[in-house]
Amino acid sequence: MKKYAFLALAACAAALAGCSGGGQGASDDAITVGFSQVGAESEWRTANTRSVKEALAAPEFNLKFSDAQQKQENQIKALRSFIAQRVDVIAFSPVVESGWETVLREAKAAGIPVVLTDRAVQVSDESLYATLIGSDFVEEGRRAARWLIEDSEGLEGPVRIVELQGTVGSAPANDRMRGFKEVIDQDARFSIVRSQSGDFTRAKGKEVMEAFLKAETGGIDVLYAHNDDMAIGAIQAIEEAGLKPGTDIRIVSIDGVRGAFEAMNAGKLNATVECNPLLGPQLAQLIRDVHAGREVPKRVMVEEGVFTRDQAAAELPNRKY
Ligand code: AHR
Repeated sequence: MKKYAFLALAACAAALAGCSGGGQGASDDAITVGFSQVGAESEWRTANTRSVKEALAAPEFNLKFSDAQQKQENQIKALRSFIAQRVDVIAFSPVVESGWETVLREAKAAGIPVVLTDRAVQVSDESLYATLIGSDFVEEGRRAARWLIEDSEGLEGPVRIVELQGTVGSAPANDRMRGFKEVIDQDARFSIVRSQSGDFTRAKGKEVMEAFLKAETGGIDVLYAHNDDMAIGAIQAIEEAGLKPGTDIRIVSIDGVRGAFEAMNAGKLNATVECNPLLGPQLAQLIRDVHAGREVPKRVMVEEGVFTRDQAAAELPNRKY
C-alpha cells in the first residue's frame, strides 16, 4: 500500500515539475536520468537541449526532461521530483549560482549523484555534485575584451561601452562581466557607461538597448552583449534608432550561433566569442561514469574560439547550431 502511495506521489510530483519523456524504448537496465534544463531563452539553449536529448535517447538511458522556464523554483521542484522518483543520476543546468545547498543535500542523502552541465553553483560543500561540464565563462568575457582592444588599435579614447548582461545571478552573467572588466580595465580609453540585464533573450536585449540609446545622449561606441540573442535584439533597436549596427556602434557578443554568423555576414555584428552548446555526448559519458562509480574530473572544460566578420561567410556553412 505504502509503495503505491509513494509511486502515486512521485507521479504527481513529476507532473507538477513539468517532466516529459521517460522510458519509450529504454532497456530494462537503462540509466534513469532526471535532467532539468534552464529554459528555451536563446538559440544556444535550443541547440543545447537538442544535443542533450539526442545523446540521452533510449535505449541506454531513460530520460526524464524538465524545462524550468528560467525559474529557480521550478528547477528545485523538478530536482525534488527526480529524488522522489529515485532516478539514478540527476543532471541540471542551474539557472542561477546560489540557493542550491538544501536540495543538493537531499539528493546526496538519497544517494543520487548530480552532474552539473553548462552552469556552476556556489556551494560550501563541493561533494554535493560529482562534476561540472561547461565553458570557461570568465575566459569568454576576457576574449571579448581582448578582441575589442585589438580591433581598436590606433583609436583614441574615450570609448563608451554599454553592456547587456545575462540573467542576474547566473554563472555566465557573473563570469562574463568579470572577465571582460578585468581586461578592459587595463586600457584607460575604455569605460563601461551602462550595464543592465537583458535576461539572455532577444526581446529583453532590444528593450534594454532602446533604453540605453535614449539615456546615453553622449553616444555609444561599443555594445558588449553576454549572448548573441541579446545582441540580435539590440541590433534591431539600433537600426530603429537610425544608426548602423556594426559601424556606428561596434558589437561583440558571445555564443557563436548561426544567427550571429548571419548578422556578421550582413555587417551588423563585429565579432562573436564561441560558447559550445553541444555538450550532450560528453554529458552522456560522464553520466555513464558516475553511475558506474568511476572517478571523474571535478571540472570538464569545453574548447572554444573567437570569430570575426571576415570569417563569417566561410564559417557559416560549418555551423551546427
Ligand atoms: O549558460 C550559457 C548561456 O545561456 C548562453 O550563452 C546563453 O545564450 C544561454 O541562454
